[in-house]
Amino acid sequence: MDKIDFIQNVSTSFKVKYNNNPAIISTAPGRINLIGEHTDYNNGLAMPIAINRWVTSCLSKSQGSSFSVFSINYGKTVDINPDVSPDTDDQWVKLVSSIIFILSDEYEISTGADIAVEGNIPIGCGLSSSAAFIASISLGILELFDIEISKKKLADLSQKIEKSALGIDCGLLDYYSTIYSKKNCAMIIDFKFDKLDFVAIPKDEFSIIVINSLVYRELANSEYLERVKQCRDGLKVIKRKYDISDFRDLDVKMLDSLKQDKILYNRLKHFIDENQRVRDMQLKLVDDYIAAGKILRTSHDSLKVLYEVSCEEIDYIIDASESFHGWRGGRIIGGGFGGCSIHFVDISMIAEYQHHINNCFRKKYNYELDIFEIKYSSGISIDYRFNNG
Ligand code: GLA
Repeated sequence: MDKIDFIQNVSTSFKVKYNNNPAIISTAPGRINLIGEHTDYNNGLAMPIAINRWVTSCLSKSQGSSFSVFSINYGKTVDINPDVSPDTDDQWVKLVSSIIFILSDEYEISTGADIAVEGNIPIGCGLSSSAAFIASISLGILELFDIEISKKKLADLSQKIEKSALGIDCGLLDYYSTIYSKKNCAMIIDFKFDKLDFVAIPKDEFSIIVINSLVYRELANSEYLERVKQCRDGLKVIKRKYDISDFRDLDVKMLDSLKQDKILYNRLKHFIDENQRVRDMQLKLVDDYIAAGKILRTSHDSLKVLYEVSCEEIDYIIDASESFHGWRGGRIIGGGFGGCSIHFVDISMIAEYQHHINNCFRKKYNYELDIFEIKYSSGISIDYRFNNG
């Protein structure tokens, strides 16, 4: 479905539910991360691309002070009062409450609102569905109350909201991707210097295929936090010998300090190499997609062996792709331990590849993968604003 049709559907659901037209519509995209995985929380480099999957929010002001939030995906409505914490296990309700608490705390929000929200980004699979959900609703509320903030502030607020709702202390990759992306471009983020660059993605030779393994790992959050800690521990040890202040000052020879601790060594080796892969990708993407695909393949090995965030099913998908001649490389993306992988495939071979990989996978694991070709999208947008002037 294209973006306009998607937005139209959400708007229709809003009208049916609230018997009113929305005053604001805001949309935030999901993302893939081309390269630069598990680098953001260490001030590294990453290279995300916004994709044609979105979360759209429709909003209008209401009488009273509470917020009625209708999740079209879950077919449920919750009423949230900015002064009362909800007693819930539903993640989406936790997120939405946290958005309303934090925004009401920081800004002058004079009344309640009616909100309908829907997403078509697979949830919890490494495509940044939570960041798009948070950013879309937050921007919608801010616009509804005529509160202007910078994109940077919106990213920082979104990070704070997710942390307070779910306790996940992640980096800024997902928020930057959904907020700053430009259509048909990969964005190069330097988290240390808060610097963004854009590279146009060539269109004629290869496509990017996403494969959702449908593997969900309960442990993903705690494992994620453990990786964050291991990197910090490794840096601490190195600092005893070398006079450096930050992860970005690391080079491979300094890892000699970690010879006694193979795990910390491996984690930081991945970080150093992965940043270099972002630099290499920036050059290769433009005119050598075969070399760019090889960078993905090397990154997958590093995430599997050094960072240990892959899983058996996705390793199998990568291995089974290797023998397919139009496949140029691929890797697991996002936090890991399941979820999605991305693949560079020759444009002329897309259908055959999907068929090949699904057949191999079904034989081994006895279920169907969710496979789709992505189109590129732009970052967050206000798609409609009622003008009563
Ligand atoms: C998750 C986090 C991001 C980033 C990636 C790994 O998606 O939300 O901040 O750390 O994992 O690159």
